[in-house]
Amino acid sequence: MAKESAESRAKRHAGLRIDTIIAHAGLAPQAFHGFVNPPVVRGSTVLFENVEAMRGRAGARYSYGLTSTPTIEALVEALNILDGAAGTVLVPSGLAAVTTAILVAARPGKKILVPDNVYAPTRRFCDESLRGFGVETIYYDPLIGAEIADLLNGVTALFLEAPGSHTFEMPDIRAMVGPAQAAGAIVMMDNTWATPLIYRPLDHGIDLAIYAGTKYQGGHSDLLLGSISANERLWPALQQLHKNLGIQAGTEEIWLTLRGLRTMGVRLERHERSALHIARWLQDRPGVARVLHPALPDNPGHEIWKRDFGRSTGLFAFVVDGEQRHADAFLNALRLIGLGYSWGGFESLAAPGELEHCRTARPWAEGPTIRLQIGLEDVADLTEDLQRGFTAMKAA
Ligand SMILES: Cc1ncc(COP(=O)(O)O)c(C=O)c1O
Repeated sequence: MAKESAESRAKRHAGLRIDTIIAHAGLAPQAFHGFVNPPVVRGSTVLFENVEAMRGRAGARYSYGLTSTPTIEALVEALNILDGAAGTVLVPSGLAAVTTAILVAARPGKKILVPDNVYAPTRRFCDESLRGFGVETIYYDPLIGAEIADLLNGVTALFLEAPGSHTFEMPDIRAMVGPAQAAGAIVMMDNTWATPLIYRPLDHGIDLAIYAGTKYQGGHSDLLLGSISANERLWPALQQLHKNLGIQAGTEEIWLTLRGLRTMGVRLERHERSALHIARWLQDRPGVARVLHPALPDNPGHEIWKRDFGRSTGLFAFVVDGEQRHADAFLNALRLIGLGYSWGGFESLAAPGELEHCRTARPWAEGPTIRLQIGLEDVADLTEDLQRGFTAMKAA
């Protein structure tokens, strides 16, 4: 059987619907004796037939394990197709994907714009590491919209996260991308929450789509992986930086991410349905001041969410009508829902928000928050567990 090229496989996907693409993207069974999935290829060394082939390694399909293996290639191809990307790099974590993307645009003496509700370790990287490289970070109100234009002087990157971590405000991406492009800034978006099944950043003028594959792509809480997918304009710079930094995701993690990816669509449908059910249920509970979920009509940016996403996933939060001790009593009473900082896996999790340390553009003035990752369990069992939390909260 002749091997089919990646280009020809991509052409075969043209016109297919997303659930079909996700089941097939990146697979090349002819290359592996008909086995549907690629093997876990571990390896640093690639042998060449002669010295001429060695010297011409830049044109070779594989030349060293850091650059590519059949396992890396399979995931990269799948992610390229899902995001409509010119190229994708893999890194060891979602945070590494964020920091690598930022480094593509960071220039000493220049600034980058980051939303105030960004994932907290992204903020820590900007404050503790980027500052040391002479790059200033300006935190903007995530609801700033077109007024972002006023902040773009001397800016090399606009960072977006939608909706933002812990408070889930939905930014007006459309209103922000145009001015940023006109100012020559590189636009990048942490799209971990939505995944390319809900929103494809590169289709909307964004240069770099950033993912923690740790979350929904992997889906089973058993791996760490990050990816960055680039449009034609940014692909050469991203590829060069990735090569020069010498980073790559682990082979086992790549293989597990590919495995998780195949079921991401069906898992997301369940995450969405259960999370929405619980978000609405929470709205009527004493002890809840406000539910922070972009699909709920009173959430900041809800109309934008309807226009741009229209679908949601399993992560949201609520503001406790009380003090920290009430939130803590709630969390300590949970039996089924684990206390953990991650999300996107099959199991439900809860985590306290620590917003007082990471909001500067619009300081947090409401009560303590609790973030919920709604997993694949039966919602009736989850609401019973949450009810245990509310009973404890009342007694605290
Ligand atoms: C929005 C967002 N981006 C990136 C990350 C980082 O992912 P990782 O845990 O793989 O470093 C997280 C992790 O929680 C996240 O919530």
